[in-house]
Amino acid sequence: MTASVAKPGLRPANPNFSSGPCAKRPGWSLDALAKAALGRSHRAKIGKSKLEEAIALTREVLQVPADYRIGIVPASDTGAVEMALWSLLGARGVDMVSWESFGAGWVTDVVKQLKLADVRTFDAPYGQLPDLAKIDFDRDVVFTWNGTTSGVRVPNGDFIPADRDGLTICDATSAAFAQRLDFAKLDVVTFSWQKVLGGEGAHGMLILSPRAVARLESYKPAWPLPKIFRLTSGGKLIEGIFKGETINTPSMLCVEDYIDALHWAKSVGGLDGLVARADANFATLDAFAQTSGWLENLAVDPATRSNTSVCFSIVDPEVAALDKDGQAAFAKGIVSALEKEGVAYDIGAYRDAPSGLRIWAGATVETSDLQALTAWLDWAFAQQKATLKAAA
Ligand SMILES: Cc1ncc(COP(=O)(O)O)c(C=O)c1O
Repeated sequence: MTASVAKPGLRPANPNFSSGPCAKRPGWSLDALAKAALGRSHRAKIGKSKLEEAIALTREVLQVPADYRIGIVPASDTGAVEMALWSLLGARGVDMVSWESFGAGWVTDVVKQLKLADVRTFDAPYGQLPDLAKIDFDRDVVFTWNGTTSGVRVPNGDFIPADRDGLTICDATSAAFAQRLDFAKLDVVTFSWQKVLGGEGAHGMLILSPRAVARLESYKPAWPLPKIFRLTSGGKLIEGIFKGETINTPSMLCVEDYIDALHWAKSVGGLDGLVARADANFATLDAFAQTSGWLENLAVDPATRSNTSVCFSIVDPEVAALDKDGQAAFAKGIVSALEKEGVAYDIGAYRDAPSGLRIWAGATVETSDLQALTAWLDWAFAQQKATLKAAA
């Protein structure tokens, strides 16, 4: 790659490649929200039926088993995960599995906030998975299906035994609707609307297996739970939460937007269509990186490479020879140049992750936009290299 790369002629039609909130679905406009039940009670028939529709469409598109509960809960994915951790853990030992900063955040919660006595932690550096064979599934297990900040995902649910005594609690927010979740292996699944379907933040989805419900109804944590986390009343599951009777007031605008996103998801072929879109997007980025000579996927094992939050290290020898700050400045230079051109927003590595690029490839992103972006990546790289040479 030389410094003389010409500015590409073709621009991505949509320059939004953020890992959350993610790009709105193709063709989205505010008109999609025209039927929102604004100014109406979420407990009135109209509001409640919208919430029920959101749950029913989630079940259909995500292929959630009929005996699993699906609830809309406060505080986005974080809220859903915290509800699960604080409501379910403590009944038995816990294995915490993490390999990037969101997973590490859940470890902090369990170790430093809940201060559970019997916790084992399994972590791995950015780019790798911990040894999943060491996990004991007769204990409760908490893990993130797709590590959004490292672009490393579990390839499938084969590492989880079908018959296990513990519960599996899975933060699937950057996997749901792009990767196939093996529900038979998962007792708690959480995600946020703002990720793969390009919805809005603020609301979380909490999916519970019958075994998770049995735990809720048979075990009471030793610590108090605020109303916003409470899933049971008098030792029984509050079934209403899983029928659209939300704990507190949701945004009916966000609900309408999520329903719109789910209808779009159905229009592109449901889960199969969504997975295929993300896979095609990943393939485009992967093919580019393989031949670029300067980018390498942060995920070492190809089987673990995310098809949503695709993370790259800059491996050009001159850049790799720089110190950490120099490498970060180089990556930032590329990100800023592309932002300034209006061709790519929010493609810098996450603040805690190794420097580099993180490009969202989830289902709402168009493959043609990623194709257009690759030429701009080469252009921005060449610009930065020229700056590096000039400074030498
Ligand atoms: C794996 C993972 N967990 C949790 C979160 C937090 O999600 P939210 O801001 O929707 O609560 C994110 C956000 O990017 C994430 O990627």
